[in-house]
Amino acid sequence: MFLERLEHVPDPTVSRLAPKILATLDRAVGYTQAVMSYGKAQERPPQRRLLALQRVGDDVADVLGLQDHDTVAFENNVPEHIEIDADPEQIFRVLLNLVRNALQALETEKDETLVRRITMEAMREGDCVHVVISDTGPGIPENTRKALFKAFHSGSKKGGIGLGLAIVAELLKAHGGSIDLDETRPGACFRLKVPDRRS
Ligand SMILES: Nc1ncnc2c1ncn2[C@@H]1O[C@H](COP(=O)(O)OP(=O)(O)OP(=O)(O)O)[C@@H](O)[C@H]1O
Ligand SMILES: [Mg+2]
Repeated sequence: MFLERLEHVPDPTVSRLAPKILATLDRAVGYTQAVMSYGKAQERPPQRRLLALQRVGDDVADVLGLQDHDTVAFENNVPEHIEIDADPEQIFRVLLNLVRNALQALETEKDETLVRRITMEAMREGDCVHVVISDTGPGIPENTRKALFKAFHSGSKKGGIGLGLAIVAELLKAHGGSIDLDETRPGACFRLKVPDRRS
């Protein structure tokens, strides 16, 4: 409520940022609830809508501060016309978890000559949307690969609970989709499939 009042403050910067802060808070609360309920209850079934995927990618980048990041570049190469049939909040969380992992991996490396780029691509093939999230970081540590999509296998990362990718896999499965690690590309590269709902 306090933040909602900010939207009416006559300062243009404040009124521009307030809705974003509100949306971010909402999502943070949603995320916390998801973590707390993991293992206890299932995620709610997806409530699908047709979404402009490029916009969802931009929102994720906004929330992670990637639109004007000092050291990491975010390339949203999703064509404007790609529509994905997915639960808006759940697909947001899927992309947020993947892009945040990439950002965290890139930020741990100190060498300033390294290229730090996160790329999001997508294409539609019939009734299925393929999304690729890749980065120029160090790649997934060998010892983490085997159980990558299982809960609490965070590998060596400091501060990670190891839930992110497990939640991603579960949410995609609920959409009838999937996620795979592409081991043929350098860095980390995740390939997602999200089929349209059946009518
Ligand atoms: N893009 C990436 N580059 C390098 N390593 C990654 C990348 N994405 C995931 N990993 C590795 O996979 C592990 C599991 O990721 P996951 O998102 O499931 O858990 P987490 O990030 O450690 O914790 P949480 O997401 O719950 O905060 C990470 O700890 C990290 O070691
Ligand atoms: Mg994570």
